[in-house]
Amino acid sequence: MKLLEDKEGQVYQENVTKFGIPEEYVRKAFAEETLLEAATTGNPTFYLALENRCKILGFAQAIQRDAETAELDRIVVFPEHTRKGIGTQLLKRVLEDQERKGTKTVVVNAGKEETHARKFYEKNGFEVVRQAIVEAPWGKITLATYQLRLRSV
Ligand SMILES: CC(C)(COP(=O)(O)OP(=O)(O)OC[C@H]1O[C@@H](n2cnc3c(N)ncnc32)[C@H](O)[C@@H]1OP(=O)(O)O)[C@@H](O)C(=O)NCCC(=O)NCCS
Repeated sequence: MKLLEDKEGQVYQENVTKFGIPEEYVRKAFAEETLLEAATTGNPTFYLALENRCKILGFAQAIQRDAETAELDRIVVFPEHTRKGIGTQLLKRVLEDQERKGTKTVVVNAGKEETHARKFYEKNGFEVVRQAIVEAPWGKITLATYQLRLRSV
C-alpha cells in the first residue's frame, strides 16, 4: 500500500496512469484483506523471494486449475529490486516446485499492453496460446494467455 502512495512511483504509474485502472480498484486489489483472501482461497501456493532469509523482495502465487494445470496468478518483484534477475529466479523456483507436484502445464494471463510482463514471460519460455477481450471492473481489456509446458512432460 505504501508503494501506491507515491504517485510518481512505478506501481501507481503502471496501474493507474498507464492502464487507467481506477485508483480505488487498485487500492482494493493491493489491500491486506484482499491478499489474505487470495492466499487462502482455491488452495494456492505462495512463493517468496527473500534476501538473507528475512527481507521480502517479491512473491508469486500459483493456483492448481486441474490435475495437470497450474495458473501463475501473480508474480511481483518490488520496484526497487526489478531487472536484477530476481523475477526469473523466483519463477524458476515456482516451475521446479510445480514440476515436482506433477503439474504439466503452467498458464498465466497478461494484459495486451503489459509489455514488461509479456517480455518477462516470453524471455522465460512462455508462448501465447490465446487472446481474448474480457470485461474487467474498469472496462474491456485484451488478455493474452501464455502457456509453458514443463520439461518432464
Ligand atoms: C514482471 C516482473 C515480475 C519481472 O521481475 P524482474 O525481477 O524485474 O525480472 P528479471 O530481472 O528476471 O527480468 C528477466 C527479463 O524479463 C524482461 N523484463 C523484465 N522487466 C522488464 C521491463 N520493465 N521492460 C522490458 N522487459 C522486461 C527482460 O527480458 C528481462 O531480461 P533482461 O533484464 O536481461 O533484459 C516485475 O517487473 C514486476 O513485479 N512487475 C510488476 C508486477 C507485474 O507486472 N507482474 C506480472 C503480471 S502479474
